[in-house]
Amino acid sequence: MRSILIVIGTLLVLAAVAMPLVWSDEDREAWLEYGRVSTGVALLSSPVYKEECGSCHMAYPPGLLPTATWQKIMSGLENHFGDNAELDNETQTKITEFLVSNSANQSNYRRSRRFAAVDDKSEASMRISETPYFIHEHDEIPSRLVTGNREVTSFSNCNACHRKAEQASFRERDILIPGHGKWDD
Ligand code: HEC
Ligand code: HEC
Repeated sequence: MRSILIVIGTLLVLAAVAMPLVWSDEDREAWLEYGRVSTGVALLSSPVYKEECGSCHMAYPPGLLPTATWQKIMSGLENHFGDNAELDNETQTKITEFLVSNSANQSNYRRSRRFAAVDDKSEASMRISETPYFIHEHDEIPSRLVTGNREVTSFSNCNACHRKAEQASFRERDILIPGHGKWDD
């Protein structure tokens, strides 16, 4: 009798230990979603990042671009998409470290893995909105709903349509295009 209990006990412990190992990213995301933690890419921020990189547009979650792209963006802030976003050296180093250590290719989130897949043969774009995965997901949206839409104006404004973009969630049920509504594909 006792040995049966020991066997059962051992199996239970093994199952508990092995569970997270056999989980896929999707399982993990579903589990996190169940816990009402929004998902999509990792929800990470830092006060200095939010303050310096979240004033002109949303502070993009670092898991939306690979390391090399963040490095490129951070080393050219004096001419940042036509704006000057220069920082002092210390702040620039801090933010670069934050972005690089949490970049899409450091992440095991499924969507980050996709954003990380950039074509490094071409001169890689500095835009999230020009990554192959982004284009694949948005190529059916007519421009009148984006550039022709006063409440959106650019694909760079993720949070105009993805109502939970700042919580790093890009789930379809949280998409609402201004002046259009839900997206049915
Ligand atoms: C002075 C305003 C300003 C600041 C500050 C700023 N940006 Fe930008 N950023 C812009 C503009 C303007 C664009 C282009 C938006 C567009 O095309 O609609 C842009 C675009 C981007 C994009 C590309 C978005 C896309 O289309 O995929 C990234 C990534 C980005 N910024 C990162 C950063 C980071 C990191 C920082 C902080 C170091 C930062 N930005 C600070 C103005 C700013
Ligand atoms: C004009 C509105 C709009 C803007 C702006 C926009 N998106 Fe989207 N996005 C959509 C729509 C609509 C879909 C769903 C497309 C489909 O299912 O065919 C989508 C899909 C996605 C998906 C896939 C979601 C999934 O679960 O399959 C991701 C990830 C995403 N967007 C990220 C972004 C990011 C990051 C930005 C900003 C750089 C952004 N989007 C800007 C409308 C927008």
